[in-house]
Amino acid sequence: MSPGKFITLEGIDGAGKSTQLAWIVDFLQGNGVNVVVTREPGGTPLGEELRTLLLNSSLTMHPETEALLMFAARREHLDKVIFPALSRGDWVISDRFTDASFAYQGGGRQVGITKLENLEQWAQGVLQPDLTLYFDVPVELGQQRIAGIKSADRFEKEQTEFFQRVRTAYLARVEKYPERMLLIDASQSLQKVQEAIRHIMEKVFPLK
Ligand code: TMP
Repeated sequence: MSPGKFITLEGIDGAGKSTQLAWIVDFLQGNGVNVVVTREPGGTPLGEELRTLLLNSSLTMHPETEALLMFAARREHLDKVIFPALSRGDWVISDRFTDASFAYQGGGRQVGITKLENLEQWAQGVLQPDLTLYFDVPVELGQQRIAGIKSADRFEKEQTEFFQRVRTAYLARVEKYPERMLLIDASQSLQKVQEAIRHIMEKVFPLK
């Protein structure tokens, strides 16, 4: 059995990563890969309960409380879903993972990076995704895409400056981890974005 691979998708709200997720899953399944599709915060019964709290726009919480809850959900997710799937040899595709904590809690909320690194080490040890696709869009475009879709959650109702800090933090991580994190220009047409994903997938994981 080939060892499982761990792929994560990242981007600011409105980057369109969830639309691309379905395409990536089809692509992998079409190549005979067993895929486990999951998301953060969430992916387990407890994690989904924490997600409801974290996204609830009528709750306020300290930025560090938010970070701790994100990592609590992640610890459960790793234990119940990610580690078991990878050890079975399945591929895991997660709609967000730890880069989101560095971008949203680190960049957006300005929680100290060392604190986040300590939580990362605690929750996941040495595990890192094999590949992270970062869908990059200008903040204004992301905001246009989420405007009017549904009632805004606790993050979506943040201001432009918040998302600027989130995007800047994502871009800094792409620069810091060029082997693992690949940037896709998600302001292009759907077709162009999918071509870019296909190109990356075929290069990074030659499937046939
Ligand atoms: P989603 O809308 O992509 O499902 O993500 C839910 C929100 O949670 C999104 O606004 C980003 C935020 N988030 C964090 O702030 N930190 C994290 O670690 C994760 C995984 C998500």
